[in-house]
Amino acid sequence: MRHFTNVNDIGDLRIALAEALEVKKDRFAFTELGKNKTLLMIFFNSSLRTRLSTQKAAMNLGMNVIVLDVNQGAWKLETERGVIMDGDKPEHLLEAIPVMGCYCDVIGVRSFARFESKTDDYEEKILNQFIKYSGRPVFSMEAATRHPLQSFADLITIEEYRKNDRPKIVMTWAPHPKALPQAVPNSFAEWINAAGYDFVIANPEGYDLDPKFTGNAVVTHNQDEALIGADFVYAKNWSAYTDPNYGKVLSTDRSWTVTSEKMALTNNAFFMHCLPVRRNMIVSDDVIEAPTSLVIPEAANREISAQVVLKRILESL
Ligand code: CP
Repeated sequence: MRHFTNVNDIGDLRIALAEALEVKKDRFAFTELGKNKTLLMIFFNSSLRTRLSTQKAAMNLGMNVIVLDVNQGAWKLETERGVIMDGDKPEHLLEAIPVMGCYCDVIGVRSFARFESKTDDYEEKILNQFIKYSGRPVFSMEAATRHPLQSFADLITIEEYRKNDRPKIVMTWAPHPKALPQAVPNSFAEWINAAGYDFVIANPEGYDLDPKFTGNAVVTHNQDEALIGADFVYAKNWSAYTDPNYGKVLSTDRSWTVTSEKMALTNNAFFMHCLPVRRNMIVSDDVIEAPTSLVIPEAANREISAQVVLKRILESL
């Protein structure tokens, strides 16, 4: 694997999941693979899980790790070509990227949607510049439109907990006070579609996602109907995708919060969320604290998804 930005880069999902479960059994079996290799993790946005789990995965493989928070201590970066740089940004990304590539063997990038231009966001302008100009394998640690390490970890978690071959998975929008990107729901949809599970997406009107990601999933605006018979409930907020409301919050309707009353409609479903989560906006305390909540196992599997991806990249160097 050279780069990892979406589900297609992982190849056969069954093989990837089997590999993940093998890595989980013995995460120190490949400590020689990353010897004298350096991972550079670049964060344009905050992180807890991605930062820690990816660093741990790299250390499991024997790698050295450098972490750069672009907005804390580095020069402020201009990202647009053609700009007269007489403002507060002394360095251009087009020099910074190849320079960063000089100091490492693999680069992980976190760069969220900025909601300034839907075209720029959906063309993954920042991530693709790293792929084009760094000269290194690049993997996404959540980009503008996808969060593949999260989705891979979610799929590993479903693999570990599912009770039948084709579980019903319901991804439901839930309220949040601020505008969040569509990366996690886009990506989750892409991976669940690739896995071939029974997949329903529930969101209020105005919140339909890009059909490129939702594919053949059933999309409904009736959350209660969607939840009936669900084996897994994946809650997430996202801002509007469709024009002219791209990136806007259209609703904070708390009747969409995932509560025990909502979960009672399901087939004793497991609750999932990528975290961080706003309690009693997205999900009630009792649902996230229930034995059927998988939020901690999902987070734990972030180490495993990152390790499989790094292992495959290292094997291709
Ligand atoms: N789920 C996730 O990516 O968490 P962080 O934003 O804390 O990395």
